[in-house]
Amino acid sequence: MDVFVVTGASRGIGAAVSALALASGYRVVRASRSCVEKVTDSTWDIPCDVASWDDVSSLVSRVEGEWGSVNVVFANAGTSVDTSFVSDAGAPPPEWTDMVLTNVCGPAFTARAAMPALMRSRGHLVLTGSAAGRGVRPGNLYSATKWAVTGLAEAIRAECVGTGVRVTLLQPGLVDTGGIPASRANDPKLDAADVARAVLYAVSQPPSVDVNEILVRPTGAAR
Ligand SMILES: NC(=O)c1ccc[n+]([C@@H]2O[C@H](COP(=O)([O-])OP(=O)(O)OC[C@H]3O[C@@H](n4cnc5c(N)ncnc54)[C@H](OP(=O)(O)O)[C@@H]3O)[C@@H](O)[C@H]2O)c1
Repeated sequence: MDVFVVTGASRGIGAAVSALALASGYRVVRASRSCVEKVTDSTWDIPCDVASWDDVSSLVSRVEGEWGSVNVVFANAGTSVDTSFVSDAGAPPPEWTDMVLTNVCGPAFTARAAMPALMRSRGHLVLTGSAAGRGVRPGNLYSATKWAVTGLAEAIRAECVGTGVRVTLLQPGLVDTGGIPASRANDPKLDAADVARAVLYAVSQPPSVDVNEILVRPTGAAR
């Protein structure tokens, strides 16, 4: 069975992708800070902070060592705080650091840790960016972190040419999870399961097909 590693798997999009990957026949590794270590024949929950290089590199080496391969890595863990550059609205600047480390270093560390294993398996890396990584969001540092993921995915894909590794940038619009700001509570939303189907679409293509970007928004979304 192919092995599918999900970061940010404890809830929201990561939980939905983990469930669909499991139903699709993968062995699924579910990683997040709050995960409690537990293993069954087809699932393995591993505590991991993606802002920690030691955590992420240990995650990948343990999985490849014990389960023999790493075929899909979904670098999905992320967090969001409101920000403003002109006023005290939103979180104070010292609280911005965790978001930048999680959203930028997280997928970068995950990619770096996973790439040797993915090159051995000719596997697939999927990174969760955002529709906010395409357009301007006034005063929004979260959006800037997702612009970083947009650039990261393309940089990784360019370096992977010739390795057989496929790289997909997933850019969801608003998804109905605990991760959305109160200010957008009444906007149209996707279900996390909608996003999971998009991820499974990308990773179920033949090895010769590399789906590089998926932008998926709820119908009627303005942004
Ligand atoms: N919801 C949306 O509208 C939307 C739209 C576009 C993109 N996204 C992106 O989609 C991804 C998932 O978001 P979501 O809406 O599903 O959020 P969520 O429901 O808040 O879930 C976030 C997940 O990330 C984990 N996580 C947070 N910080 C972590 C860290 N440092 N290390 C490891 N795991 C960490 C959380 O688990 P622990 O707390 O246990 O660590 C949780 O499993 C994020 O990258 C987000 O930016 C969301």
